[in-house]
Amino acid sequence: TPLKLKEGLLSVTSSEESKDAAGFEFSEDKSTVSITVVGASGDLAKKKIFPALFALYYEDCLPEHFTVYGYARSKMTDAELRTMVSRTLTCRIDKRENCGEKMDQFLKRCFYHSGQYDSEENFAELDKKLREHEGGRVSNRLFYLSIPPNIFINAVKCASLSASSSSGWTRVIVEKPFGRDSESSAALTRSLKQYLEEDQIFRIDHYLGKELVENLSVLRFSNLIFEPLWSRQYIRNVQFIFSEDFGTEGRGGYFDNYGIIRDIMQNHLLQILALFAMETPVSLDAEDIRNEKVKVLRSMRPLELENVVIGQYKSHTKGGVTYPAYTDDKTVPKDSLTPTFAAAALFIDNARWDGVPFLMKAGKALHTKRAEIRVQFRHVPGNLYNRNFGTDLDRATNELVIRVQPDEAIYLKINNKVPGLGMRLDRSNLNLHYAARYSKEIPDAYERLLLDAIEGERRLFIRSDELNAAWALFTPLLKELEEKKIIPECYPYGSRGPVGAHYLAARYNVRWG
Ligand code: NDP
Ligand code: BG6
Repeated sequence: TPLKLKEGLLSVTSSEESKDAAGFEFSEDKSTVSITVVGASGDLAKKKIFPALFALYYEDCLPEHFTVYGYARSKMTDAELRTMVSRTLTCRIDKRENCGEKMDQFLKRCFYHSGQYDSEENFAELDKKLREHEGGRVSNRLFYLSIPPNIFINAVKCASLSASSSSGWTRVIVEKPFGRDSESSAALTRSLKQYLEEDQIFRIDHYLGKELVENLSVLRFSNLIFEPLWSRQYIRNVQFIFSEDFGTEGRGGYFDNYGIIRDIMQNHLLQILALFAMETPVSLDAEDIRNEKVKVLRSMRPLELENVVIGQYKSHTKGGVTYPAYTDDKTVPKDSLTPTFAAAALFIDNARWDGVPFLMKAGKALHTKRAEIRVQFRHVPGNLYNRNFGTDLDRATNELVIRVQPDEAIYLKINNKVPGLGMRLDRSNLNLHYAARYSKEIPDAYERLLLDAIEGERRLFIRSDELNAAWALFTPLLKELEEKKIIPECYPYGSRGPVGAHYLAARYNVRWG
């Protein structure tokens, strides 16, 4: 029978001092946290997970006694893992301080165990090593599954059967993709739940850990001025835009099986939309927030083909440099119909949002890298100053832009009188530019999410009913695209994407920001 362990407490206070395997002093009875990065040799582990763990250590956010274990099939010694990890650690927090020293201390807490993902025996060996480090204290264990989805279940099974904590909590962070459609996602959840309780599963969507996405609720619910305007009465349309100025370089094999709708829209953009559009939660408790998100997702209409435009990037030569087509990637079939761009109009059929188009646009190999929410307000009724804008009344409306990245900012476009004796109006920005306002660097999304998982805070992780509701919106469309073999519109690498996206917006009287 699989081990389903109940949640335990993170810390227990005590007094006596002792040393761990790395020579660090700890109070006797304190609980420990062992973080195992499964798939430690991979891209995400190197790029994001180890650097985020180091940043947390640097900021004294990790518990006093912790150990980081890398686990993968590749053969590596502890020293080799440390060398690999050290290449991607950065002193972004404060370059003047003792960062090098902190790095050395952190690396001494990192170890490696080589094993197969489907071997209970190999996970039992890991368990033995973890126990040695835990030294008989209450042990809490976090497994980060940074591996391809086809091996998730084997790894969860073996970790749960052979390396669960016997005295504290065991939690598992699962990376997307959470299936390809409603059926496969439900099957994945069922399989995970054979070995874990729902509250042990932390489904990560790293966009929820981004500073400006977290701030969305603060903006809405702690300022008097926004919430009264947050409805069909004042908002004309809302846009969620994701664009990258590079292609699928290196990830074509993964991407071709998923496409941009599953990669970005069904998760990152939809999660932001849910936070944007949900009703006020009863409290800041994780369940209250997630209940509201589920409600709004369930009030949405499943996407329809006529409200969607898909594209795929083609090779383009600019300034003597030739940028590749998506299908030039050797891991992508030459006749692939996988979209690298999509635009869609979505609707929420509830009292607050009835009739308001929520537009999404996501694309790779576009002209710019950005993620933004744009809220376009209605016209001022009977505006005395309309004549200042001639026929271009769109210019007269207010727009709130939340720039999630890069160069985080929140700005509101307002109309203003140009100083002087005449009466000329001008569009200006009331601008909260984070770099100018705050001197502290913004933490990476993975830092916040890892810390939350260690602390058992589930607010920013996806609950299974939320996931089901999200897939229910996209699955019929995804099936139709595949069954009808819809051909994506071509767009040149580095362009603004297919023109179809503009026609789609125009149908709803919207101009992309
Ligand atoms: P990788 O492809 O780099 O795989 C991670 C590790 O898993 C590899 O180092 C390898 O380790 C092992 N592995 C790879 N393929 C197989 C296989 N077919 N069978 C068994 N083991 C395999 O993945 P990433 O690090 O890029 O991503 C990890 C997870 O995170 C994936 O689910 C991905 O979708 C998700 N993700 C990744 C992002 C990124 O930017 N990379 C962004 C968001 C999500 P070894 O051979 O040593 O066992
Ligand atoms: C990942 C997608 O979830 O998010 C990638 O799989 C994408 O395709 C990435 O590049 C973007 O994340 P960020 O944080 O760099 O905007």
